[in-house]
Amino acid sequence: MDTRILLFASSLLLMAVVGSVIASSTDEEWRGYQLRYYEIAMGRASNDTVKAALEAGGLEIRQDMLTGFSEEQRVDRCRTCHMAIDDPAFVDGQEPLRTHPDIPHHSFDEFGCTICHEGQGRALDSFYAHGQDEHCLHPLRTGSMIEASCARCHPEPYLDETPHLRAGRQLFDDLACGGCHTVRGVSRGKDGPDLSSVGERFHTEYIQESIRDPRANMAMSIMPDFHLDERDLQDLVVYLSSLRGRSLYEDPVTLRTRNREWKAEEPPTVTPSVAQGENSLEASACLACHELGNADGGFAPSLDHEGLLRDSDWVARHIAEPRDQVPGSSMPAFWMSASERQAIALYLATFDQVEPMARPAEQFRALCARCHGQHGDGKGPIARNLLPLPRDFTNARFFDWLPESRAHEAILHGVPGTAMPPFAELLAQVSAPPREGPEEGDSGDEAGASDMDGPAVRSAGARQAAVDLFAFVRAEFIGGDRPERSTTRTIPDSNPVAFTRASVQRGKAEYRARCYGCHGLAADGKGPNAADLAPRPRDLTNGPFMQDLGDSRLFESITYGIVGTGMPSWDYLSESTRWDLVNYIRAVSETGPSGTDQSAPNEGEYQ
Ligand code: HEC
Ligand code: HEC
Ligand code: HEC
Ligand code: HEC
Ligand code: HEC
Ligand code: HEC
Ligand code: HEC
Repeated sequence: MDTRILLFASSLLLMAVVGSVIASSTDEEWRGYQLRYYEIAMGRASNDTVKAALEAGGLEIRQDMLTGFSEEQRVDRCRTCHMAIDDPAFVDGQEPLRTHPDIPHHSFDEFGCTICHEGQGRALDSFYAHGQDEHCLHPLRTGSMIEASCARCHPEPYLDETPHLRAGRQLFDDLACGGCHTVRGVSRGKDGPDLSSVGERFHTEYIQESIRDPRANMAMSIMPDFHLDERDLQDLVVYLSSLRGRSLYEDPVTLRTRNREWKAEEPPTVTPSVAQGENSLEASACLACHELGNADGGFAPSLDHEGLLRDSDWVARHIAEPRDQVPGSSMPAFWMSASERQAIALYLATFDQVEPMARPAEQFRALCARCHGQHGDGKGPIARNLLPLPRDFTNARFFDWLPESRAHEAILHGVPGTAMPPFAELLAQVSAPPREGPEEGDSGDEAGASDMDGPAVRSAGARQAAVDLFAFVRAEFIGGDRPERSTTRTIPDSNPVAFTRASVQRGKAEYRARCYGCHGLAADGKGPNAADLAPRPRDLTNGPFMQDLGDSRLFESITYGIVGTGMPSWDYLSESTRWDLVNYIRAVSETGPSGTDQSAPNEGEYQ
């Protein structure tokens, strides 16, 4: 054996020993790799020049000082361990001593490593260098995650070389994420946090968990859980991680100007026509959530009969601000011109036909099960995305107590402020038997309403259908006959305590002492105990819901509680205190009598 190699090896050994004494333990790691590198490289060296070059190299920290790409100076010491990165002899080597996959156009001298791989460039210990400590925001990127880095210099439309990034970007559109989230230059949602720099501010794992389980951090979040498979989830994470807020390929001045122009832009106006509405609905990814015809996002109500449920004004307003009408809604408030909303509403209004289905069982399956569940247990496929939750018909205590008339009312006119839609018009049509040809036309008693009949007949037909439908629900799910109400309740018709600032203040104090654990400090139904209850505590700020209720219903519910739910009875509070609570609820839901009292409180002060 060549004595020179022996000599070289022993001197290295000596250096290593001395080094390990002097250096802290974290330094040892890289020395070990460098020794191994020389050892293997020497063994493989094909000629003397290579050997000589190797001999000339000592154990040293190797660093790339990088100033390109308008960043502050970056120092990458990765090559201290990853010595074989550009040595073709190490293609079958073991990390960190392995040849880098070919990346033409990007020399290590110019690009370093962390601009693609993240991690901490200066660290000399693989644990820290790879960003494995929990404080490191940007841990090592490998595999498809590297594509998030390519985007920093190769913006949209992305390169063919970054398929996962492209797929993630597409999913962001297809799943209507942009309906709720702003990404500068891409989308303008305002219901969720701005994600323009989400990749800069958050750890990959946090981003991933935010999408996988939106309720992990916030039990009552409106952010939808799309039940994505791992591949789609990963692609979205790649895309979101690429969003760094600042750009490496644009100078700050151009970037700011572009952002400002983008912010000032108005949504495009369109001709409000049915055809335009169809296009807009398509383009807005509404069917990422909704069902319509053959498409079904599986997340939100069916729009198949929307023309029979809501008028187009209501629909247009719902697209503008869903939470004005349904405060717990998880539908995004779209950035859209009034004319485009109107176009969509016109298009949805054309869905005003429903095939006749005579039997309540069929009606239930087609119209109710998506929310209330095939088995009536309130666990329909989209139930978890609704707040308040659909009623659970197997909750016999609640439904034995609930006046039948209220159930019929709910079916016909909906429950305002919730996802429960009004079915009156639809039931009028659905309960009509299939229209026969005129020659067989025999308008017997059993014939329901049809387009030919007057409104009174139609409404009577609808009412009968609602009664039959609820009778089916009772027989099928609630079970048993409805028991007689055992107690008689005496409830005053109107509130004897005037709606004054003083009364609201007393109500507020009482509320803070007794109610916030369930209904929340802001009275929005999101108290600390809320997530454990089904049905959830009512959002007392829900204007449309409260507007629909009289003071006596509120007083009754507070006094006696609501059977079969978590809402307890407060009959031991003095009567005037209970009325103060009613006034407080009127104030927070902005449904107090207006103009009757000069000192009438306004909403903001009492939340
Ligand atoms: C102290 C030595 C050391 C330093 C410094 C170091 N690495 Fe590593 N690296 C390793 C070792 C050892 C492995 C193989 C074992 C492992 O994955 O941890 C490795 C593996 C890797 C891998 C492959 C990981 C995988 O899961 O496939 C990448 C990529 C990588 N390093 C990048 C970097 C980058 C970028 C830096 C600089 C920020 C760096 N390394 C700094 C020692 C180091
Ligand atoms: C221009 C971007 C870019 C730069 C700069 C870059 N890499 Fe890579 N690196 C990649 C890509 C792309 C892969 C292949 C990833 C894959 O397909 O799994 C890769 C793979 C690797 C691997 C193998 C592990 C794996 O995931 O396959 C290691 C180790 C590695 N790089 C280390 C480094 C080090 C050390 C530097 C700095 C000297 C560096 N890279 C610079 C883009 C880059
Ligand atoms: C820090 C900025 C930066 C990053 C990060 C980066 N590139 Fe590049 N890339 C460049 C520059 C600059 C060029 C032009 C280099 C030249 O031709 O001299 C280039 C050229 C290319 C080209 C040649 C075709 C073309 O469009 O010019 C491809 C392909 C490419 N990059 C792919 C990638 C991939 C894949 C990644 C991520 C693994 C990546 N790049 C990451 C800056 C970057
Ligand atoms: C209905 C509105 C809505 C939609 C649609 C929506 N989100 Fe969210 N998202 C939110 C809200 C609100 C938050 C704030 C935290 C919370 O309430 O959970 C959030 C939080 C996040 C976060 C965490 C960000 C942070 O700053 O904490 C990420 C990441 C995220 N969303 C990604 C997505 C993605 C990806 C999609 C599409 C698949 C999506 N969101 C769809 C409303 C929405
Ligand atoms: C992130 C999921 C999601 C997206 C995207 C979405 N919605 Fe919704 N939408 C919902 C949910 C959940 C409800 C039920 C709660 C409510 O009424 O807001 C709903 C309710 C509705 C209703 C009321 C149905 C009824 O009669 O009670 C209409 C109309 C509607 N959406 C239209 C649209 C249109 C048009 C778009 C596209 C511009 C759209 N939605 C996009 C989730 C979504
Ligand atoms: C889009 C979802 C959805 C559909 C479809 C739906 N419901 Fe509901 N339903 C709800 C929600 C949400 C509630 C809870 C309202 C509340 O919190 O007071 C509810 C409540 C009810 C109630 C109780 C009303 C009360 O005052 O407590 C009845 C009865 C009812 N639904 C019957 C039906 C019937 C029958 C159908 C089919 C014709 C139907 N629902 C279709 C969502 C839906
Ligand atoms: C243990 C939890 C809990 C506490 C404490 C609680 N509530 Fe409730 N509350 C509920 C639940 C659950 C509902 C929803 C019942 C339902 O689905 O109809 C509700 C519903 C309501 C409603 C709606 C009534 C209706 O007729 O629909 C009002 C008003 C109300 N609560 C007021 C109060 C007030 C005022 C207090 C304090 C004095 C209070 N709650 C304390 C759980 C609670």
